[in-house]
Amino acid sequence: MSCRGGRDHIQILFFILAILLTGLIQTADSSNRDAAILLRVKNSQLHDPLRKLDDWVASAPSAPCSWMGVYCDKKNDSVVSIGLSDFGVSGDFPADFCRISTLRNMDLSSNNLGGSIDSDSISLCSHLLSLNLSSNYFVGRLPEFPVEFLKLTVLDFSYNNFSGEIPASFVNLPKLDFLSLGSNLLNGSIPDFLFNLTELTQLVLSGNPFISSLPENIGSLRKLENLVLSYCNLAGTIPVSIGNLVSLKILDLSANYLQGNIPESIGGLKNVEVIELFGNQLSGELADTFSNLTSLRYFDASANNLTGKIPESLAGLQLESLQLMDNFLEGEIPEVVALNPNLIELRLFNNKLSGSLPEFMGMNSDLVEIDVSTNNLEGPLPRNLCYKKKLTHLVLFGNRISGTIPESYGECSSLTYVRIQGNELSGVVPDGFWGISGLELVELADNKLQGFFPPLISNAAGLGQLLISGNNFSGKFPVEICGLQEVKKMDCSKNQFFGDLPSCMSQLSKLQEFHIQENQFSGEIPKGIGDWTELTQLDLSDNRFSGSIPAEIGSLPVLTHLDLSHNSLSGEIPISLTNLKLNEFNVSYNRLQGKVPLGFDTKFFLSSLIGNPNLCSPDLSPLPPCSRSKHVNFVLVGILSVLALILVVLLWLLIKTKKLISFGKRKKSWKITSFQRIGFNEEEVLAALKDENLIGSGGSGRVYRVKLKSGQTVAAKRLWGTHRIAESEGVFHSEVETLGRIRHANIVRLLFSCMGEDIKVLVYDYMKNGSLGDMLNDEKHGAYLDWPKRFAIALGAAQGLAYLHHDCVPAIVHRDVKPNNILMDEEFKPKVADFGLAKAVRQDELQSDQLMSRVAGSYGYIAPEYAYTMKVTEKSDVYSFGVVLLELITGKRPNDPSFGESKNIVRWVTEIAFKSSKQGSDNAIGTMDKTCFDQLLDPRMNSSTIEYDEVEKILNVALSCTAELPVSRPSMRRVVELIKDHSPASSK
Ligand SMILES: *[C@@H]1O[C@H](CO)[C@@H](O)[C@H](O)[C@H]1NC(C)=O
Ligand SMILES: *[C@@H]1O[C@H](CO)[C@@H](O)[C@H](O)[C@H]1NC(C)=O
Repeated sequence: MSCRGGRDHIQILFFILAILLTGLIQTADSSNRDAAILLRVKNSQLHDPLRKLDDWVASAPSAPCSWMGVYCDKKNDSVVSIGLSDFGVSGDFPADFCRISTLRNMDLSSNNLGGSIDSDSISLCSHLLSLNLSSNYFVGRLPEFPVEFLKLTVLDFSYNNFSGEIPASFVNLPKLDFLSLGSNLLNGSIPDFLFNLTELTQLVLSGNPFISSLPENIGSLRKLENLVLSYCNLAGTIPVSIGNLVSLKILDLSANYLQGNIPESIGGLKNVEVIELFGNQLSGELADTFSNLTSLRYFDASANNLTGKIPESLAGLQLESLQLMDNFLEGEIPEVVALNPNLIELRLFNNKLSGSLPEFMGMNSDLVEIDVSTNNLEGPLPRNLCYKKKLTHLVLFGNRISGTIPESYGECSSLTYVRIQGNELSGVVPDGFWGISGLELVELADNKLQGFFPPLISNAAGLGQLLISGNNFSGKFPVEICGLQEVKKMDCSKNQFFGDLPSCMSQLSKLQEFHIQENQFSGEIPKGIGDWTELTQLDLSDNRFSGSIPAEIGSLPVLTHLDLSHNSLSGEIPISLTNLKLNEFNVSYNRLQGKVPLGFDTKFFLSSLIGNPNLCSPDLSPLPPCSRSKHVNFVLVGILSVLALILVVLLWLLIKTKKLISFGKRKKSWKITSFQRIGFNEEEVLAALKDENLIGSGGSGRVYRVKLKSGQTVAAKRLWGTHRIAESEGVFHSEVETLGRIRHANIVRLLFSCMGEDIKVLVYDYMKNGSLGDMLNDEKHGAYLDWPKRFAIALGAAQGLAYLHHDCVPAIVHRDVKPNNILMDEEFKPKVADFGLAKAVRQDELQSDQLMSRVAGSYGYIAPEYAYTMKVTEKSDVYSFGVVLLELITGKRPNDPSFGESKNIVRWVTEIAFKSSKQGSDNAIGTMDKTCFDQLLDPRMNSSTIEYDEVEKILNVALSCTAELPVSRPSMRRVVELIKDHSPASSK
């Protein structure tokens, strides 16, 4: 028995061994086969520049399961997943991976794969559970799914360049749970049949230029938890069936063109946590239907056309964030909102809300931000708004809120950003408020607030902007104000401050704007003001400052606005001030005396100089001439005559001995270069540099119109005088070098240059129609520039700049592109001019992003990166040119006060354009509606001449030129192409 039994056992053992062996061989077989497939795809279809797949070698132990990105089933070593996300591989869609029959998941996201995907290749993959191709460069139509993908639950094609319609064969994905086609170029409709995919829990189609409305059957997806359809170009209304999405947690329909009411059925989304409806055209009243949405935490319906009141049922929810700004809501803010224990942010600005702020606001929740600015709110500030000490943003400006600032606000240590200007607040600001250490912006202007800066203001060491003008603040500036080391903008104007400015204020070296006009400050302007090297605006007017104007003001490199008028300043106007490139200069009504420095002695500055009875000027009437002959007595005349006689004798002797031969030939020492065939000489030009011929005065010199004997008219620029010798030398050489060697129909022609010991003159073609800046800023002439002229100017100026950037070797960066530097001949053909700041850029300098040493450009036209990097490249010119285009369209100056605070033309136009564009999917603006044009277009233009598609084209070009990042801006050559392009969709 035992033997037999033993034999039996052995038989069984053999049997088991045999089975095991076959299994092993089979596994090895399939492993080999999978490895072979993987290697074949790797070697024949994928590029692997990062060499992430280097360990894919057949001989590796336990290949292919040990390879990077390959995952096997532990039980039988079959490959189940390929995960090559972010491997940097490129090539076509590697469908052959799907030949691995055990493969379930394939993640090829975030690579450089491309090409189109056809239905043959995708059909190989019908056994997959998940397929992720997001963030690649796939193009063409979405692939058809020719067979049923019975197992596919996850399909992610987002962030590619797929275009066209969503194919009907998507119904062959019956088990699909997650579908993302977001951020592609799909431009068909959102089809009904998508909503037959009833297993979907997540559907993301955002960021596509669909031409579609929402399908009525949207509510059929009873399992749907996330529906993300933002930035989809959706029109039409929100279907009532949306309320049937009972599982929905996130509803995002933001940034579309949806119209009509928000359906009452939205109250049926009983599991919803997030509702984003902002940036549509939704109208009507919000129904009082929200009471069952107890899971809702975020509700944002801002930037729509909603009217009526904020429903109690919405305000009473336990929201963390409620955003309804930029609508037409009215009535009171419901008191219940103050009882919500979750409320963190409340943004209701730009509505027509009235009544007072809820009394208990801030007591029950960790409120961080409240912004109810620009409404019709009144009544007092809630006493306990900062009860939980979490409030950072307090924004209430533009209401009629009254009463005092409660003492408790002085203990609100979390505050960083306070804008409560333009209300009716009164009383003393709590001392503690000034010492809150995290403050970054304090804006209290235009109230009736009182008090003075306490010493603890030095605690607010991070304060960047202190804007309190138009109140009743008083007292002296304490020395502790010098602790505001980060302050960039300080406006304490129109108050009752008095006393000296502390001399330590010179330490505030980051100051860019300093306004203290209309106070009662006295004493001298502090020494050390020259240390404010970032200062652009200085207004000390209407005070009682005495003493002289510190010469160091003239060394402030970026100062453009200087107002010292209506004080008691004495002494001479420092000659150094002529170094400044000022848009605004005013020293009127002081006690200044002496000769007006060369450069300010023009009619242009007359109103800036009046009210100083002792100022004199040889040529600027009505100022008295500087001759002192009245006071000179005969004795002096006698002495002078004797001295003169001695001098003449000496000179004669010197000339005799030929020691001063060059002095005698001074005129001959002029260096003259002529660049064109000309019919005049320097004498004729120099003789004409008289005030009666003066036509302009700018940063680099004065410009005269010179009518020559030959009948030709030329423009002569005399660079600023000898006291700025170094700089004017630089300007002169820059201009002569730049213009002397280039020729282009859209660049002003330099005819001739002439440099003497103390005079430098450049002669150009005379441009009959002056500068574009003069034209645009003149009421009458603006009308004369009709649209065809403006379009031609845009194109011509672009061609001039493109020539400088692309056809000159080395390339030339103009650095001061603005309408004043675009001149126009009699046919309004534009000519780029004023190369005083231009700089040739060598290629190696460009690559190293070299720094330009001198400050370049004019306020309003300077590219944003310049402010913090001081880098100037061709792309900075492109930005400035974009601003010029916006001016051509709108007729507005880049910093027109009507744009409102801290807004410039770029932001103003961008906001209007995006608000009305029908396609918000990328940088380009889609088809614009007429109301947008009504807001933007220069009303002086004859509307019958306007070609709206040209305007739109120029607008698109302008907006891409003024992109924040230099890399996003087109080159000037591209700009020319875009402007010339005749196809209607020229925005790309
Ligand atoms: C989608 O479902 C509806 C109703 O359930 C049906 O009539 C329709 O044929 C389906 N569409 C497709 C493309 O299968
Ligand atoms: C809230 O739910 C209850 C119970 O399901 C229902 O009777 C009521 O009508 C709902 N209220 C709203 C405003 O939808």
